[in-house]
Amino acid sequence: MSHKLFLLPGDGIGPEIMNEVKAIINWMNANMDVTFECDEGLVGGSAYDACGEAISEEDMAKALAADAVMFGAVGGPKWADVPYDKRPEAGLLRLRKDLGLFANLRPALCYPALADSSSLKKELVEGLDILIVRELTGGVYFGEPKEVVTLEDGQQRAVDTQVYTTSEIERITRVAFDLAKTRSNRVSSAEKHNVMKSGVLWKQIVTKIGSEEYPDTPLEHVLADNCAMQLVRRPKQYDVIVCDNLFGDILSDVAAMLTGSLGMLPSASLGAPDAVTGKRKAMYEPVHGSAPDISGTGSANPIATIASFAMALRYSFEMVKEADMVEKAIANVLEKGLRTRDIAKEGDTTVTTTQMGAAIIAELEALN
Ligand code: NAD
Ligand code: IPM
Ligand code: MN
Repeated sequence: MSHKLFLLPGDGIGPEIMNEVKAIINWMNANMDVTFECDEGLVGGSAYDACGEAISEEDMAKALAADAVMFGAVGGPKWADVPYDKRPEAGLLRLRKDLGLFANLRPALCYPALADSSSLKKELVEGLDILIVRELTGGVYFGEPKEVVTLEDGQQRAVDTQVYTTSEIERITRVAFDLAKTRSNRVSSAEKHNVMKSGVLWKQIVTKIGSEEYPDTPLEHVLADNCAMQLVRRPKQYDVIVCDNLFGDILSDVAAMLTGSLGMLPSASLGAPDAVTGKRKAMYEPVHGSAPDISGTGSANPIATIASFAMALRYSFEMVKEADMVEKAIANVLEKGLRTRDIAKEGDTTVTTTQMGAAIIAELEALN
């Protein structure tokens, strides 16, 4: 069996963490009954430096043709002044939009060994296993108009537009309910219907889909600001949280800290199944960014990206056993006390990005 992976390491710590995924891919190619054919491209600031765009047409075409894309991270102070439509983040947003990746799965899992690395009390996060299902191709990220105009009196007026249609809400709702059924079977929908028209429609559609198609799955509605508070107060009350693009961005960073570090949170961005083949376009990316403050120091945590690769095994390649194995290897190295700086407590000795990657491969070796 052969799969085509397109790697987009990006900027800052992106290439550093992607190196560890490459090492795991090489290990899998050598030890498993599978071949990953990897090609690599540029995205973000590194693409802008090479071709003046946040992603080239050639690399977009490769992303569209691949079985799955592995994405590192983009952005950094070096590109603070490039034109808005060429900024590094534009490459990521174009990939999401053009690949139709409307469903972003962001699981937040507190590994037992890290229960006291969270900034919250151990008892609040121990055993935490929540899944944020973030709508990824709509909302205020893409709504039109999106512009800055100069008014007659010389002031500037900046506009972003929050837009959702019925079908956009319906399809992300179904993803959330379908996933809930494979877990603790509870869905919480976060919006702000008290302030936003799109929130009113969101609540109405989620309620309709829930009652008509998933009558056996309990659904609750929560205002998004309250949801942020509840995530910090009593996070284990949640199973699946479904929300729009912007609320999902914010709530998933909150959820990240429950697990110990932003460096721990993976994600899968999935498209709709193809009508003929049933295959989904997919991109796998850590939730964190390019971490310019630590880039080049060798201290980045590669676990979010390695766990994103495990999600690729699970969601794109039906390699459930191998995905479990990678996740088990991560749990084991944490159990053995290996810590990159972000998840270390005072007095812990820390390992580098490469040492963490190598330790995970050694665990894979032992588990195989
Ligand atoms: P960030 O996620 O890059 O960093 C936030 C903090 O978390 C930093 O202190 C960083 O050192 C730490 N951190 C993040 N990932 C880590 C890891 N793997 N290991 C250890 N520590 C880690 O967010 P930011 O600083 O707000 O943004 C920096 C740049 O990244 C911006 O240009 C932003 O637009 C971009 N960004 C990109 C993505 C992406 O590519 N998917 C996501 C978020 C932010
Ligand atoms: C994320 C990031 C992106 C987002 C940025 C870099 C465009 O913060 O993936 O969480 O806002 O979606
Ligand atoms: Mn974010």
